[in-house]
Amino acid sequence: MDLFEALETTRSIRRFSDAPVTDDEIVTCVRAATQAPSGGNIQPWQFLVARDADTKRAIGDVYRRAYDRYEPALLRVRPPARSSEEEASFQRMARASRHLAEHLGEAPALVLVLMPNISMTLEDDRGPLDVGTPFASVYPAVQNLMLAARGLGIGTTLTTVYRIYQDELRAVCGIPDRYEIVALVPMGRPRRPFCVGRRRPVEQVTHWGRFGSKSTPGR
Ligand SMILES: Cc1cc2nc3c(=O)[nH]c(=O)nc-3n(C[C@H](O)[C@H](O)[C@H](O)COP(=O)(O)O)c2cc1C
Repeated sequence: MDLFEALETTRSIRRFSDAPVTDDEIVTCVRAATQAPSGGNIQPWQFLVARDADTKRAIGDVYRRAYDRYEPALLRVRPPARSSEEEASFQRMARASRHLAEHLGEAPALVLVLMPNISMTLEDDRGPLDVGTPFASVYPAVQNLMLAARGLGIGTTLTTVYRIYQDELRAVCGIPDRYEIVALVPMGRPRRPFCVGRRRPVEQVTHWGRFGSKSTPGR
């Protein structure tokens, strides 16, 4: 499929049909993930694929309990919507997210993306050098995984709210403490067609040369 169509339609899919996802398809997606860039090409990732019903149910239970705390906390700090369209969009997302929280364990596959607890902080004789968070070396792989899934007609959602109970999730899957669980990605066939996401206009978020300068040099 066209790359730009894939980029624009790789949306959060939170409602899955009963159609299967094969192990081969998952391997294809993980292979694409491993082609992602990482700082110094350290490739600090491992992928745990949950397929059996008991493990998925246990992961789903942790996720739902985390979501039960996340949802009200989010609603407490959420700023008012700027338009009725924005409010409707938020409500749609909230309903879909609640649905995922109730049904995550029923998705055909759950992929946990893990990162060893490494420090990327370097030092020279003038002190520590901030070259970025190690998480930045894993999220491109997560996005590659989701794009590859989109290419195969498989829907995904990047989730992180399980981190409220990350230790429990480690215990469920036998993940050693030295690994961070960077993302939990459910995979399944979407119930509805993929579509383009609502995003702020490019002009609103692009600065040319100096912060605040919103027109292209040529205009
Ligand atoms: C770092 C990160 C964490 C996220 N965590 C969750 C999550 O825990 N649960 C969830 O349902 N969606 C989660 N999302 C998905 C976002 O809500 C979603 O990408 C955003 O609302 C845009 O919607 P769209 O993907 O449908 O276009 C997360 C996305 C990112 C990038």
